Amino acid sequence: MESDFDLLDAKAILEWQAELGISEAISEKPINRFEKNADEKSIVATFNPDATSVNIKSQSAIDEAVLIAANAKNLLELKSAIENFPHCDLKRGARNAVFSAGSSAAKIMIIGEAPGREEDFQGVPFVGRAGQLLDKMLFSIGLSREESDVEKSVYITNVIPWRPPENREPMQDEIDMMLPFLKRHVELVEPKVIVAMGNVSCQSLLGRRGITKLRGVWVEAFGLPVLPMLHPAYLLRNPVAKREAWSDLLSLKEKVFT
Ligand code: URA
Repeated sequence: MESDFDLLDAKAILEWQAELGISEAISEKPINRFEKNADEKSIVATFNPDATSVNIKSQSAIDEAVLIAANAKNLLELKSAIENFPHCDLKRGARNAVFSAGSSAAKIMIIGEAPGREEDFQGVPFVGRAGQLLDKMLFSIGLSREESDVEKSVYITNVIPWRPPENREPMQDEIDMMLPFLKRHVELVEPKVIVAMGNVSCQSLLGRRGITKLRGVWVEAFGLPVLPMLHPAYLLRNPVAKREAWSDLLSLKEKVFT
């Protein structure tokens, strides 16, 4: 009897909150999303304007990123601008900002997703298992990040410079915030072509996902030819797809060097 009464009470309270304009359940206290099981903390209802203020906050962070990135006159300034950009929460959980590797004179700019554990540790992109496979793939068509000769070198960076917790995919607002820096990065390096490694890179550069369909077909972003390719981490999980990766590497070589 008593529990029936509680249920009716709860229903009435919910209806009343809905009348007031409450439309979303978020936590009473800030949630530390770097902590495991953060989502299991107690949930209470609150007002919609909170959600709006989050959007306003990330829009103003994007506006600030556009200004700061545009002011960077060279790669060193851009690196320092990224390192000092305070608005992307990923920065708080990362050991290092991972900027780039390879030669900035290279004709090929490879854009990956975000640093993983090893990259975060060393502050260098693509140095873990996927990175080692990437190096082998590049070597197979005569390219290397260690080369200074523009005909043989590559330049490597990521959409996101900080490691996301537990290697989760970057969220759209994190991508949006860091995209102005990536755009400026491309302008300063002036590559002949871009390789978009994997879904997150394609989502950021082309606004599209579905890498198994996108791969191998030249498209355009930032006014440059872009080749979507399967991410080496995907190839580690799906070795049979290396066949497609090989065909894309040949297409890359032909486009840039013939
Ligand atoms: N995966 C990426 O996309 N980038 C890195 O730097 C490492 C792994």
